[in-house]
Amino acid sequence: MSVLRITGGRALRGSVRVHGAKNSVLPIFAACLVARGVTVIHNCPNIADVDAAMQILIHLGCKAERDGDTVTVDTSTMTNAEVPHSLMQEMRSSVIFLGSILGRCGEASISTPGGCELGPRPIDMHLAALRQLGAEITDNGGSLVCRANRLRGAKITLRSPSVGATENAILAACFAEGTTVISNAAREPEISDLQRYLRALGITVLGAGTPTIVVEGRLVRVDTAHRVIPDRIVAVTYLCAAAATGGEITLTDVNPAHFTTVTDALTNMGCAITRTGDSVTLSASGRLYALEPVMTEPYPGFPTDAQAGLMAACLRAQGTTSFIENIFDNRYRHADEMRRFGANIKLEGRVALVTGVKSLKAAPVKSPDLRGGAALVIAALSAEGTSEVSDIHHIDRGYDDLAGALTQLGAEIVRIDS
Ligand code: EPU
Repeated sequence: MSVLRITGGRALRGSVRVHGAKNSVLPIFAACLVARGVTVIHNCPNIADVDAAMQILIHLGCKAERDGDTVTVDTSTMTNAEVPHSLMQEMRSSVIFLGSILGRCGEASISTPGGCELGPRPIDMHLAALRQLGAEITDNGGSLVCRANRLRGAKITLRSPSVGATENAILAACFAEGTTVISNAAREPEISDLQRYLRALGITVLGAGTPTIVVEGRLVRVDTAHRVIPDRIVAVTYLCAAAATGGEITLTDVNPAHFTTVTDALTNMGCAITRTGDSVTLSASGRLYALEPVMTEPYPGFPTDAQAGLMAACLRAQGTTSFIENIFDNRYRHADEMRRFGANIKLEGRVALVTGVKSLKAAPVKSPDLRGGAALVIAALSAEGTSEVSDIHHIDRGYDDLAGALTQLGAEIVRIDS
């Protein structure tokens, strides 16, 4: 079991490069099935979820090889339309492969991703979208079999702007005859990155970043290259860490426009933030201030993935900040662990009330999930004494060497693998 041992109290200083976005790479891997050729993907983070997605591609008969932060995927050799239960369980977002496997093979067989640490994560909108495109789907007690001899373009209106359902609908639509119009689509930057990749393949995809996306399906056989956008959630994790500890850090290779809701919040807390092109600098000194209510919303609203990190930055702020989690039912599991540091957090359903305390004390804590685990690292960095964060396999799913990056910024943090 691996742990991060962290001695808090050091202000973070220096500069760190932000790696590519997990939530972009995963759908782009699924989109490689559309290419039917070789895709060279640059800026691919070395994280467990990317490894799991590479294993899925290999299981499907494709080739996927890593060289540094470049992954080369060849889907011309695809032979299999089934993702086994073991791979589905490794990464809940493996459901993102459903639309493109179905489109490519005329069938797809996966198990339903289980109930997750963030609460139930149904896939009804994914399935409804695929059915509208012509898929027949049977659910044999957790194992889904999808078939479609032909997919046909359709008008799809999502009940809410689900990121994964938007991606699955776009990918299946690439194989459909005719035009698909997806309304109430998710507007996240990762959807725009997917559109950019598909356009490089020669597919007509319009509207990413708006609620209406139009896809013209067509058969392609293309070799291409793609550079994944920077990970906006990794970026804000580092910013929240520097806000919590004080100091001054610069992030390079970021797109600050992708996380203005978070930088605005940090500015309102009393941090000074400057942006220049693809970098952002945050400096913080003294006690920060509590915020007006922070409500998580689909993009361009405040991201649910940044809620835990910002909460960690609020633990010692002056006053009370209320968080309202609107996306997932169970995304406050870090709160119980944060209380071990002496944090004052009251939970009432979707609302968490965080009243800043003067100081936090080191404690042993367990990562409950990916972003919650990273938030506990932030809390430990700002606590007095030496803490241990365990269950860090959750953190490894989305952060490429978090301990290394924080060490570069002057944190006292070591990873102990046993
Ligand atoms: N939902 C349904 N039915 C569906 C699909 C979603 O009810 O068919 C609900 C979900 O249960 C949730 C809400 O809709 O309450 C939003 O879910 P969404 O589908 O947008 O999320 P996702 O595609 O499963 C992606 C990210 C998450 C991120 C969310 C929201 C990837 C691989 N994952 O998940 O990232 O929190 O969007 O922005 O892109 C993370 O990186 O830590 C992470 C959890």
